Amino acid sequence: MSSRLPGFYRLGVAERRRQLDLSAERLAAVDPGALTLEAADGMIENVIGTYALPFAVAVNFLVDDQEVVIPMAIEEPSVVAAASNAARMARPAGFTTHVSAPVMIGQIQVTHVDDVEAGAASVRESADSLLEDARRLVPRLAERGGGPRALDVRVLAKTGPDGGVLVAHLHVDCRDAMGANLVNTLCEALADRVSRLAGGRPGLRILSNLTDGRTVTVRCRIQDDPQIAAAIASASRFAELDPYRASTHNKGIMNGVDAVLVATGQDWRAVEAGAHAYAAKSGRYAPLAVWRAEGDAICGELVMPLAVGTVGGALHTHPSARLALELARVDHADRLAALAGTAGLATNFAALRALATEGIQRGHMALHARGVARAAGATGDLVDKVAAELAACGDVKPDRAREVLARLKGTQP
Ligand code: MEV
Repeated sequence: MSSRLPGFYRLGVAERRRQLDLSAERLAAVDPGALTLEAADGMIENVIGTYALPFAVAVNFLVDDQEVVIPMAIEEPSVVAAASNAARMARPAGFTTHVSAPVMIGQIQVTHVDDVEAGAASVRESADSLLEDARRLVPRLAERGGGPRALDVRVLAKTGPDGGVLVAHLHVDCRDAMGANLVNTLCEALADRVSRLAGGRPGLRILSNLTDGRTVTVRCRIQDDPQIAAAIASASRFAELDPYRASTHNKGIMNGVDAVLVATGQDWRAVEAGAHAYAAKSGRYAPLAVWRAEGDAICGELVMPLAVGTVGGALHTHPSARLALELARVDHADRLAALAGTAGLATNFAALRALATEGIQRGHMALHARGVARAAGATGDLVDKVAAELAACGDVKPDRAREVLARLKGTQP
């Protein structure tokens, strides 16, 4: 199925569902109440209900030559439209991605080390044997092509209130799992031996969310008016020069990334934490994506850590998350990372293009007006008519929407 679906946004929900390649039965997984109270009660503690968000698909995407609709769960208007518009503009070439091996880092902290350099050397000398221990603990991961890959040591402090401190990093290829449980288990299992080797006391044993060994790179080249391309490049440079702008620039990326992560049941807090730590890696907070003008084209490149999983986590229990993967035809974690990154580059492009031309408020208010018109009871063609009037008079309020709707229907409010 082509993801190029012109006018998709104008259809009603039922017609949109019909256009997707899935049966009505499967799509019930995104009906209200699809996550039952019983299932929710099994997921977290003290449950008193469930919390719904709009679930949408961004259309028009071509990612690594494959047509794909990208599921998004988000409360903010404009993001899905922005992603779909950017994806339309990025055709026919679309987006290309490169996803690194899914290597996560586990940290084993050792404190009260008398001689940190000697302690570090001793752990390094036993790295191979520690890795052997780790591999024995996860035989099934190795069968799937993953497993512990390397162990290195960083000295953090020679002295201090808790003595000399060092940290061992265990690098684990987690394949299709996000890997938090896996990595934490391994760190806990190795901690005693590592601290004995280092001559100190075991401290924290936990994965790092700065997953700089598990990154996605997304690129696109979009034909545009040369003046607009130059303005987008200048917006990118603004973010490269100024952390205050870089933060907002990256927020525009995370609009797309997080919406995909929420829809697919991922730990989006982990990805957020990793993204911002990665953005600050050079010592100065920087944009995760940059744009360069090349004549009548604008070229974008996003590089960011993206630790996601297609097995385990909420996917066991959340029907909508499983459906989201099915909609996007995702069967491996690397494809999910590629799509989340692509959504991020797309929303970044759309935000910069709007900001560098007419500003974001007009488009934003037009979409907001549609929401207000619907909430006032408008359906079908009336949604656009009421929204257009609200946007034109700049009074996008429910009372005004009801008045306009009543007049258009020929009745009094
Ligand atoms: C709003 O959700 C996101 C933007 O602020 C991003 C940006 O400024 O690049 C529009």
